[in-house]
Amino acid sequence: MAMERTLSIVKPDAVGRNLIGSILRKFETAGLRIAGGKLIRLTPEQAQAFYAVHKARPFFQGLCDYMCSGPIFVSVLEGDNAIAKNREVMGATDPAKAAPGTIRQEFGQDIEKNAVHGSDAPETAAVEIAFYFKPEELF
Ligand code: RTP
Ligand code: MG
Repeated sequence: MAMERTLSIVKPDAVGRNLIGSILRKFETAGLRIAGGKLIRLTPEQAQAFYAVHKARPFFQGLCDYMCSGPIFVSVLEGDNAIAKNREVMGATDPAKAAPGTIRQEFGQDIEKNAVHGSDAPETAAVEIAFYFKPEELF
């Protein structure tokens, strides 16, 4: 299996409910290593840039407003097959459809306030990591 890095975000609703530690524990328990991390607050411009791929979707404005509504915890997770493994630990986008034991099933509130973001492919992981981190911030 390939050693990969992927971008993870603990979204504002989960940060606001004091769930950063509970969520990071799920990643570490799954064998993912935290290679970098920080708490930040996105500006509307940054949220629109990060989610540009969704700009034609009906939920785009609501998603950007939500992602700016409070601080987020961004981290880089590293490990064998980290991109797919992260998404497995996260669970389905809609918490109501997420498998038992996944982050979204345990901590997500609805299809928008679903606790976490994770990169979906090697190309997006590279772009998303560079969006939030300088190389010297990763270990
Ligand atoms: P993410 O990008 O956050 O890891 O989530 P994902 O791949 O599972 O879902 P994606 O289709 O990329 O959607 C990005 C985020 O937009 C919000 N969303 N809202 N109201 C809606 O119908 C709706 N659908 C998606 C969610 O916060 C989702 O994670
Ligand atoms: Mg996505």
